[in-house]
Amino acid sequence: MFEKYFSERIKNTPSSFIREILKVTQDPEIISFAGGLPNPISFPQEALKISMNRIADTYGAKIYQYSTTLGLDSLRQYIADRYNRIWGMDITIDNIIITTGSQQALDLIGKVFINDGDKVMVEKPSYLGLLQAFCMYKADFVQTKLNDDGLDIEDLKNTVKTYKPKAAYLIPNFQNPTGLTYTKENREKVFEVIKDEDMILIQDDPYGELRFEEGERIPYIGLNKSEKNLYLGSFSKIVTPGMRLGYIIGNSEIIKMLETAKQASDLHSNIFGQYLIADYLYNNDLDKHIEKIKTLYKKQAYTMVEAMEEFFPKDIKFTRPKGGMFTWVTLPEGMDVLKLFDKAIEKKVAFVPGHPFYVNPQKVNTLRLNYTNADAATIRTGIKRLADSIKEI
Ligand SMILES: Cc1ncc(COP(=O)(O)O)c(C=O)c1O
Repeated sequence: MFEKYFSERIKNTPSSFIREILKVTQDPEIISFAGGLPNPISFPQEALKISMNRIADTYGAKIYQYSTTLGLDSLRQYIADRYNRIWGMDITIDNIIITTGSQQALDLIGKVFINDGDKVMVEKPSYLGLLQAFCMYKADFVQTKLNDDGLDIEDLKNTVKTYKPKAAYLIPNFQNPTGLTYTKENREKVFEVIKDEDMILIQDDPYGELRFEEGERIPYIGLNKSEKNLYLGSFSKIVTPGMRLGYIIGNSEIIKMLETAKQASDLHSNIFGQYLIADYLYNNDLDKHIEKIKTLYKKQAYTMVEAMEEFFPKDIKFTRPKGGMFTWVTLPEGMDVLKLFDKAIEKKVAFVPGHPFYVNPQKVNTLRLNYTNADAATIRTGIKRLADSIKEI
């Protein structure tokens, strides 16, 4: 009825496939591996309650007032200090803008950089929230194959040579949807290929802090070597997603343009949340808190992988995440994941079919599983049900 009033922009943007799926999974008997919710253990509720009272007492009306677009100085300072300490960066608050979650960061980057038809390189598969956000700006996506160790270098070279993308969007740590992480060597090779290209590199890193397997943190691609790199971080998976707070780190000239884009979007991110998170961060040990989350996710991830090893037919492949929240399953060639989805719902287990993570989904035989929101026994039961569904199909 309202069709003629809607913009071409919105008409051409797919609605979130996952939200549609989550509707099907409302049935309480369904074991859902479909969502991507952090476990509530990752919300430091008691400490946040103390911070709420403290900011009310300390800052009074300021926590309820309009504020600046770039975000609260003390929060930006905390972020600058942390990146300088961990990564040997040399950034100040002028290199940081606070955003309403990383999702807004993606939207603002799209607004600032993407003209109709601009080529954007993304991983295959990629984060559906980015595909949706950049679709609004009529990006023309090209997908580069993702292997167990990171981007497929030959495919990357071809993509770069053939399409000359204006931007690349990558999730090098515990990727959504696959759970894969680029190795150090792979990151170095990726940088070699793109370093002289006329291209903005966007590294989205909401899961980087959640490495639960032994091993050093692996530096970002081209860390401290390129002025055209943008790093996206988020408090969603390590403190709380409900406050909707994330940030972009980049060259101050780019940050200024993002500030203008953000003024038009929402003036500024929720200032109560910014005071709250800043107070929490300055008065608590974030690393200790993250250890707690990692211990839980490690157990859940291993339980899921072990159950898949035990119950799945041998020709089903899956990733073995070293951190983050997801694993990615590949069914045999030609098997239709949507048929499997219907069968799995019948057997009361849900997942996300691979479709929304591809630019041109065709003959999709992949699916995403989330393990952060079920206990070990439930994970085993759910995987058994999924294995039975696979066998029946
Ligand atoms: C890769 C990736 N980027 C961005 C986001 C959005 O996160 P935020 O809650 O910070 O908006 C998500 C959320 O799941 C994600 O997986």
